[in-house]
Amino acid sequence: MANEPVSPSQTDAWKSALASRRTQVADTEALPAALVSPLDRDVSRRNFIRASFWGGLGVTLLGSVGLLLDFLYPRNVRGFGGPVPAGNVADYVKGADPVPNSEGQFWMANLDPAESRLGGTGGADGLLALWRKCPHLGCTVPWRSTFSYEGDSEGWYRCPCHGSTYTKSGVRVFGPAPRSMDTMAIEIDSAGNITVQTGAITPGGPDNPERAVPV
Ligand code: FES
Repeated sequence: MANEPVSPSQTDAWKSALASRRTQVADTEALPAALVSPLDRDVSRRNFIRASFWGGLGVTLLGSVGLLLDFLYPRNVRGFGGPVPAGNVADYVKGADPVPNSEGQFWMANLDPAESRLGGTGGADGLLALWRKCPHLGCTVPWRSTFSYEGDSEGWYRCPCHGSTYTKSGVRVFGPAPRSMDTMAIEIDSAGNITVQTGAITPGGPDNPERAVPV
């Protein structure tokens, strides 16, 4: 009997019998709770737990990133990187040696345009703040008031690391430094008080003398 051929009419009869026994539930209709198998309930619970886990992890990570950014955001920056007080214009005698400012990491000089020697001001007139960091490899550049170069012994900036040499206005004349000393922005209020913006640094160039602020 198992090998007897099945006629098309028998097949159709089976199909209609099976169709009539199926419970048809519309897509929009919720399945009665009694018809939801324990396996389905397990799967949806697992999905819910998984979604909660990843959601919670995402919120935690976002919160951590937010806290980190908040921590790193600069507020009221003081010292190097922000505004640094540099005394009063009366403190700087025109033509005198540059004065170091360790908080702001710069040299300040009141340059005299009449100082026309080789290592002089290059015609600069007024206050110039030079970042003390050598543009070559970052060594601290000192002002050496008795250093002699090319027969001029009245003072130069001279880097102790590889010998880069700069005039009083920070213009490079010798050594491996790729440019002149960098300058910082200077602000002077109506009472002559000076603030150097140590975060506003301009790469040094042959135009350093033109950056001096007349006082
Ligand atoms: S670091 Fe100043 S010359 Fe090299």
